[in-house]
Amino acid sequence: MSANATGGSPAAIEVRGLCKRYGEVDAVDDLSFSVGAGEVVGFLGPNGAGKTTTMRMLTGFVPPTDGSVSIAGHDILSEPLAARRAIGYLPETPPLYPEMSVEGYLGFVASIKDVPRAGRKRAVDRALGRCGLADVRRRIIGQLSKGYRQRVGLAQAIVHDPAVLILDEPTVGLDPIQIREIRSLIAELASAGEGGQGQTIILSTHILPEVEAICQRVILISAGRKAVDEPLSELTSGGRSLEALFGRVTSRDGDATVEAAGEGGA
Ligand SMILES: Nc1ncnc2c1ncn2[C@@H]1O[C@H](COP(=O)(O)OP(=O)(O)OP(=O)(O)O)[C@@H](O)[C@H]1O
Ligand SMILES: [Mg+2]
Repeated sequence: MSANATGGSPAAIEVRGLCKRYGEVDAVDDLSFSVGAGEVVGFLGPNGAGKTTTMRMLTGFVPPTDGSVSIAGHDILSEPLAARRAIGYLPETPPLYPEMSVEGYLGFVASIKDVPRAGRKRAVDRALGRCGLADVRRRIIGQLSKGYRQRVGLAQAIVHDPAVLILDEPTVGLDPIQIREIRSLIAELASAGEGGQGQTIILSTHILPEVEAICQRVILISAGRKAVDEPLSELTSGGRSLEALFGRVTSRDGDATVEAAGEGGA
């Protein structure tokens, strides 16, 4: 199932001793993990755990206080252009240009991501198709519904066909049907596409069934530190629930709440 037999080739994502300190706050504290090509990892943790901060460092938007990040073998600090070309990033708030058309914006993103001019139209058409945006390609982004804007956010993340996708709460704020659609789109990206191997994906979410639906592995952080890094199948073996695990790891005192969360979980 997990296609992490990288045998010699560099990991898709390699994080070593990553730290981010904001004044007195250790937002991310000595975090290390590695993600193999084609793996789909759920990145979990309570509010303020450091998920977004980690993702910003993975994508080179925020410099780490310490530690290193390498994407597809390229160090994010010493080879930022090569590393960034290998990354598609859906931030918490996607940087959409509300006055642009959907296809105009995607063409613009393709150009700044160095997609050669001759291949741009094809790249945009492909992203439009995969994200279910073909019918709204000429619409102005600012006039789209939130769910469609989120799809545009995903489309800009995949338009240059990156090896690694970093998705920060991709389904936040969407209705249940849109959530299902975006979720199946992510699953589709993860499975082998035209070119053979599926994309490597790390996604943060608070929706645990989402993790069970699309991820093979869970990394859970709490207060900036890694608390769990295991295959989903092991975490949920014997009928154990992710919700109970989440409660147990992230509650500081006692496990009364944990039991309650585990028993009463939806
Ligand atoms: N620019 C900043 N300046 C100061 N502190 C920051 C900054 N960005 C994040 N922090 C702090 O770092 C910690 C981690 O925040 P982060 O946004 O990474 O958490 P998160 O896991 O993404 O949470 P959420 O689930 O709410 O999105 C928090 O304590 C936050 O207040
Ligand atoms: Mg966040």
